[in-house]
Amino acid sequence: MTILNQYLNTRQDTEQLCENLTLEDYIPQSAEFASPPKWHIAHTTWFFEEMILKKFIADYKVFNNQFSFVFNSYYNSLGERIERQHRGLITRPSVQEIFKYRAYVDGYITNLLKFNNSEELEALVILGINHEQQHQELLITDLKYTFSLNPIYPKFSEHNYINDKNSDSGWVSIDEGIYTIGHQKEGFCFDNELQLHRIFLEPYHISKKLVTYGEFIEFVTDGGYKNPKYWLDAGWSWVQANNITQPLYWKHTQGKWQHYTLSGLESIHTDGILSHISFYEAHAYATWKGCRLPTEFEWEIASTYFNWGQRWEWTYSAYLPYPKFKISEGAVGEYNGKFMMNQMVLRGASKATSKNHSRHTYRNFFPAETQWQFTGIRLTK
Ligand code: AVJ
Ligand code: FE
Repeated sequence: MTILNQYLNTRQDTEQLCENLTLEDYIPQSAEFASPPKWHIAHTTWFFEEMILKKFIADYKVFNNQFSFVFNSYYNSLGERIERQHRGLITRPSVQEIFKYRAYVDGYITNLLKFNNSEELEALVILGINHEQQHQELLITDLKYTFSLNPIYPKFSEHNYINDKNSDSGWVSIDEGIYTIGHQKEGFCFDNELQLHRIFLEPYHISKKLVTYGEFIEFVTDGGYKNPKYWLDAGWSWVQANNITQPLYWKHTQGKWQHYTLSGLESIHTDGILSHISFYEAHAYATWKGCRLPTEFEWEIASTYFNWGQRWEWTYSAYLPYPKFKISEGAVGEYNGKFMMNQMVLRGASKATSKNHSRHTYRNFFPAETQWQFTGIRLTK
């Protein structure tokens, strides 16, 4: 497929995700971490304008010179911006105006790709496509968080991304040895996956299945959230400060477990695959089980022997640069590298991850208390 077609498909996929949104749904920001749909669809457009059109078209006129202030996420080299927690206040420009902005940028990118086939342009367009795909998943998870705070629990779609059942069992055993880590194949990857390097692994066993709701309910009913001995100190503080007693979106009413999904409030099925747990909860569960979480390296090496892609899987690896990590020049250098502290790595992908947007070397990352992504647990021992 041509780059132009990949670009147009990705842009269309985003708009498809917005198909069932009402105008009101586009606006609210329900938490600092959860951006409004409108912001996502504008920010991904801004990314193409800022990183590509301004650079490759000498006399390019931006669609609106106020947009960079409100749709720049975190790029210091691209100027001042609105505070993150204020993204829900951007009622103007209107949603309609944002769709015009999208069409305007699509027109310029389309023309540019017709007469310029430089490698530099191609690489940036592919980065922009992958960036937009990341925001597609964030759009879904952010929307779910907002809907979950609505006491009438809206049903948004038939597809809720988490109604999958576990069908795997057993363990994979990996021998001790020296292994190579990092992206080695053709094709796109993010800069944080690059620079192959070797690591040594002690022998280990890693589960072929992800932890189910039923298994996690056992932890809850065994008093897992009440006993500090399973928890990291930071995790126990988080539990206490926020009165955490169960995974995000769970309700326990009249002896019945339910959870909010994008298809509304539903019964929890014990054989379903657990979702919406923080690193702290994943770690506490593994400890309670007498197991542990895999490191990101153990996960990467074993990943050819189990099914993955249903949940983002917490690893017990801090998000750090690989030994020979190189930070890129310019604004794109701010994309990943500057976040390499105080976050944990997740491996795999989720049911809400965009098509053609997963690799076994992909390094997702979030702070340890993050629950609103479609996260899960794979045990190691
Ligand atoms: C890799 C999902 C942590 O949410 O900031 C979006 C993805 N990077 N725009 C994030 C991302 C730039 C990133 N995560
Ligand atoms: Fe972004």
